[in-house]
This record gives sequence, structure tokens and C-alpha cells, in this order.
Amino acid sequence: MERVVTGEELEDDGVVDNTIRPEVLDEYIGQSEVKENIRVFIEASKIRGEVLDHVLLYGPPGLGKTTLAFIIARELGVNIKTASGPSIEKSGDLAAILSTLEPGDVLFIDEIHRMPRFIEEILYPAMEDFTLDIIIGGEGSSRSIKIDLPPFTLVGATTRVGDLSAPLRDRFGIISKLKFYTEEELTEIIKRTSRVLDMPIDEEAAVELAKRSRGTPRIANRLFKRVRDFALVDKKESIDLEVMEKALDRLKVGKSGLDETDHQLLRAVIERFNGGPVGIDALASSIGEETSTIEDVIEPYLLQEGYLKRTSRGRMVTEKAYKELNINYQGGLFSLDIE
Ligand SMILES: Nc1ncnc2c1ncn2[C@@H]1O[C@H](COP(=O)(O)OP(=O)(O)OP(=O)(O)O)[C@@H](O)[C@H]1O
Ligand SMILES: [Mg+2]
Repeated sequence: MERVVTGEELEDDGVVDNTIRPEVLDEYIGQSEVKENIRVFIEASKIRGEVLDHVLLYGPPGLGKTTLAFIIARELGVNIKTASGPSIEKSGDLAAILSTLEPGDVLFIDEIHRMPRFIEEILYPAMEDFTLDIIIGGEGSSRSIKIDLPPFTLVGATTRVGDLSAPLRDRFGIISKLKFYTEEELTEIIKRTSRVLDMPIDEEAAVELAKRSRGTPRIANRLFKRVRDFALVDKKESIDLEVMEKALDRLKVGKSGLDETDHQLLRAVIERFNGGPVGIDALASSIGEETSTIEDVIEPYLLQEGYLKRTSRGRMVTEKAYKELNINYQGGLFSLDIE
């Protein structure tokens, strides 16, 4: 079964995603610090009549980076052109995108950490002076020419800010980290989705759904859609606690919002590594996941909620993890708390 509580985008998310995606800052729920800062920067850039500084958005998948990039363009009243890091393979790819920009436009580069290093280097002067240095001609007769670009705002998004080179990171004037959403914020997002999709949900069901959404709007919306299907089949006019519980049981999403993948990871640390500490690579191979998937997708929420902690010698589970798995906690007899 595909993992329903992953923050990563799944194929069928896309279908309704565009209808439930907030379009203006006021509809963007939560992330209040990031949101208010960006509001001020947008306002200031309009007053000065200059382009908005380049913006870097980072955080785990599904927290609203792409959504925010589109909102920024909308609030600025400009067009947005999109690209993704891995799809820019040749200098010509980047030149082609940059040459379509109109003054003030937003260029959104998703997964910007996956852009080849030599492309990054072409981007530096484009970001700093709005010029493009390209080399034309073949061996022997090649020469470099400088092309002026219209001023634009680069909005970069990444789940791995640590993978960004320092020179690239330094060229962003605004760097914002998106955080996991609170239960209240997710409840609000679920209610908004319920309105947009015209399927009412009871207050208590919305709250309960929020609790199980791993702090992530994409998961909240996905669970809402799945629960809605159950409600539809059961001929319910609205989503109540009963149908919600039933649907989430079927989808194997527990009370805490953790699923089998989370459990598998925590269980591995406890049973195979004595509770830890265990290195991330050893842990990854023991559960058959990529190290990067653990780091970017699975563990951020487990760390934030205190099921897992990072020490200088690797990952360790906490008492909360034992409780979640109903395993008797030995009181940390062998645990050395370093950090
Ligand atoms: N602040 C928010 N308020 C309401 N809905 C939101 C918010 N943030 C995100 N969403 C919803 O969650 C979905 C996922 O958001 P988005 O695609 O922007 O995430 P992302 O951070 O770009 O993820 P990825 O890292 O996978 O690219 C969107 O379709 C949107 O409907
Ligand atoms: Mg995205």
C-alpha cells in the first residue's frame, strides 16, 4: 500500500490540488512569521519600485513552499515561470528560461539543491547583476558574451538547505524556513478544504483529522479526500467522527498520525540497535529506505514530536517512541545522553 501520510507529493494529489491551493497571502494559513515578513518585503519592494529580493524557502515536503512561491508572484502582480533544479541540465536550458522573463517576474526553481554546480555559477551573475554570461562558438573560436536580463526575483525551494552551496545561499536576500503546522492551523486548513470541495466536516472530526496529519497540509488535504470517499460511499451528508475513524483505520493511520513506516523505523532503532544511538546509514539499510528519504521525509516529524533525537553518535529513540509502540521502556538504562 502506498504511504498515505508521506509529505511527498503522490500522483493523485494533483487532481484537486489546484482547486484547494490558496492563492493570496490572506488565505495562506499558519507560518505567520514567514508570511508577515514576506508581506512587508513585498510591500516595501512595491513602494521602492524595485524587484523583490531573491527568496529561498526551505522545509520538509508538503508544507507549502510551491504554494507560497505562487502567492508571492500573485501578490507582486507579476508572472511566474517555473523550473526544477534537476531539469536544468545545460546552460542553454537556463538561458532559455531566463530569456522569457519580463521585468519583475518571479522565476521559481523547485528542488534548487539539485541544480548542477556549473549552472549555479551561471546563475550567480544573473541573480546579482541581472546579466547572463554565456559562451558561444566551438573550440578555438569560442567567446563569452554578456546579455542583460530584466530584473527578476528568484524564488528557490528546497527540502535540503544543507545541500545548497554557500555562494548560492548567500545570494538570497530572504531565507525562510517553513515549519510543521500546529493542530489548530491544520484544523483551519481542513475546514477551508471542506468548504472549497463542498463537503462539510464536523468540528470534532476536523480536529481529529488535523491531529493525524503529521503537521503537514498536503497530508491533511489528502486524508480529507480519502475520508470524503468513505463518507460518500456511506451516503453521509457530512464527515463525522465515525466515518473519519473508519477511514483512517483502513488507511492504517494511527491516533498520533504515525504510520507503519514511522513505526518500522522506531522499532528498528529499539529492536536492532538497542534504542540507539545508530548512524543514519545503518538505520536506512536496516529498514530498506534511502538515507535521504529518512532525513527529508520520515524523520523531521519524529524529531520535532520527540519520538527520536539526534545525538553526536547517531539517532536515539525516546520514551515516547516506546509508548507509541507499546514496548516496555527500560528507563534508559544503557542510554548515554550526549548533546
Ligand atoms: N499555508 C497553507 N494553507 C493552506 N493550504 C496549504 C498551505 N500550505 C500548503 N497548503 C496545501 O498543501 C498542498 C501542498 O503544498 P505545496 O505543494 O506548496 O508544498 P511544498 O512545500 O511545495 O511541497 P514539496 O516539497 O513536495 O514541493 C497544497 O496543494 C496546498 O493546498
Ligand atoms: Mg513544491
